This record gives sequence, C-alpha cells and structure tokens, in this order.
Amino acid sequence: MRTIDWVDGAVEIIDQTALPDTTRILRLSTVEELVAAVRRLAVRGAPAIGVAGGLGVALAARQFADDPDGLADAVELIRTARPTAVNLARCVRRVAGRLPDGPEAVLAEALRIRDEEIASAERMGRLGADLIASLCGERPRLLTHCNTGALATVTGGTALAVAFELHRRRALAGMVASETRPLLQGARLTAWELGRAGIPYRVAVDGAGPFLMARGEVDAVILGADRICANGDVVNKVGTYAHALGARAAGIPFVVVAPESTVDLDTPSGDAVEIEDRGAAEVTSLLGAACAPGDADAVNPAFDVTPHSLVTAIVTDQRVVRLDRGEGLGAYRPA
Ligand code: MRU
Repeated sequence: MRTIDWVDGAVEIIDQTALPDTTRILRLSTVEELVAAVRRLAVRGAPAIGVAGGLGVALAARQFADDPDGLADAVELIRTARPTAVNLARCVRRVAGRLPDGPEAVLAEALRIRDEEIASAERMGRLGADLIASLCGERPRLLTHCNTGALATVTGGTALAVAFELHRRRALAGMVASETRPLLQGARLTAWELGRAGIPYRVAVDGAGPFLMARGEVDAVILGADRICANGDVVNKVGTYAHALGARAAGIPFVVVAPESTVDLDTPSGDAVEIEDRGAAEVTSLLGAACAPGDADAVNPAFDVTPHSLVTAIVTDQRVVRLDRGEGLGAYRPA
C-alpha cells in the first residue's frame, strides 16, 4: 500500500491522523483539501510531503487551468503549507517549473518524484543496514524517534527502511520507538509499522531515551531528517537533539537516514532554518483531552536542530557520509 498516490485524477493518502485505530483513505481533489491535509499532518514526513507538494501542483494545474493568478496563488499556498522540511518547497518548485508545458507534463514530473522516492527508500535501506551492521555488530537494539517508515515516504521509509532491511537479514534484535510528543508519531505510527513488519519493539516516553542508552539497552540511535544543512546540522522532529546528546554521553552511534532530496546545500547551518511552531493546543492536550490547565501557555517547536558534531553518519540513497571521521556533505549534488 502506498502512503500517497495519484489515483484517477486526484491525490489519495492514508489519513495518518486516524492511525493506528482506523486505516482510512482520503481522496484530495482540490488544492485547498491537499493543503489542509498537509497542515493537519494527515500526510506527513519530509519525503511524503514533498510528493504531496508535487502532486498538489498537478491538482492546481487542472483546477486553475484558465486562471493564471489563481494558479500562482495556489502554488504558493502549497509551497508554504509547512516551512521546515526542505522537500515540500523543493518539489513544488521543481514541478511548477513544468507548468508552461501543460498539465500532463506537470503530472509526469510529480509522478517522477514519487517514483524517485520509492527507489530512494530501497537504497537507503540497504546502505543503512550495511552501516549499522559494521558499527554495531550482530543483532543490535536500535532506538528511533518520530516516524520514518512507509508512512513518511511513499513506500519503505528512511530510517525504518534500515530496520526493515536488518529484520529481513535476521540482523535486528528489536527497536525502541520513542513516543514523540505532542502528536505521538512514534507511539501511533512507528509502533503500527513495526508491529505489521513483525519487528519486536517497545514504546518509550521521549525522556526515557537517553537513560535507556546510559543503561546499555540501546546500541545505536537511527532516525530521519526534515532538512540536512550544508554543514551537516540535522533538523528533525523535536526530541531528536536530546537523543543525540544521550547517544554521545553513552558512546553509541547516532545515525541519520534521509534521501538526497532532504539534503539542502543552500542552507549553511541549522541556525538558518525556520522551525515550525504548531501552537499551544497540541501541547496542552493529548489525543483530544486537556492535559494542562485551561489557561496554560505553551511553546511548541515541531522540530529541533542537532549539531553536526553529534552525528556519527548521514546515510542517503546515494552515499554514507561519516561525519565522525571528518567527512562532509561537500558540493555533491545528485544528478
Ligand atoms: O511533523 P512530521 O511528522 O511531518 O515530522 C516528521 C519527521 O520529523 C520525520 O522524522 C522526518 O520527516 C523524517 S521522515 C522520513
């Protein structure tokens, strides 16, 4: 099953807000529906929202075929639906570049991005599994954060693709899924995907991660990214930085897995990245029930920045960059 696809003239997604209880397909036929789905995280994860952005431009090309101003506004609305993951703006720009060639060319470009992400996931799984095996030896126990599985891509995943590949090789002892407050992508989505794959896992509250590492219950941390900056700084779901500090204190590898489409050489470092703040309500409530006084204020950065000095390696679909050995992302740009 694909997380997102183009089906009979519209975008279909698995509604991630309904998981793990309900597997519901949503059909998005207008730009407004697609943007709302991205904003409320019905479709989420950097590669998946990149694909959503590209397919959204394909929707816009049809919806605003006779309205150039409406089309320009729609493309801008899609591009800015969420600010932090580089994939969204990048894919929207790429697909919008085909608008002069007509709606069919636009759709073909969006579908190319979808297919590239599917192929990337397979390659990341293999490269990452080889790296983890070389760093950790036989049957490691891995901790992950947020959701980096098929739900965050189209199929396969990024960091979870590595876990799936290790499991296929019978080379994974089990996973700790960090729950990922406030929206519980780890507890709801990663646990759901690991269970379906038959991988043994335990869910842990986010704050337990560094302690589990200190207590010797985790052999490596493996997670994804929403943007990897030119200097190797990693912008990912809030809580990532704490796991990186925990990994450093425990002396275990901290490995980031993301496609080249998430590497942003135009952004020099994490300081330059706009971090989405999703407002107080997500923090002061949990699964729809209040968990703080009604008048509590809250701060809700959806992402944080892990300095490159804490990252052991970055695995993309093309290469493994060993930051711990002084390697950098360099000027490499995929074809
Ligand atoms: O807010 P989300 O759920 O879209 O955040 C997603 C993440 O932070 C993932 O870790 C990241 O996109 C990598 S997924 C392949």
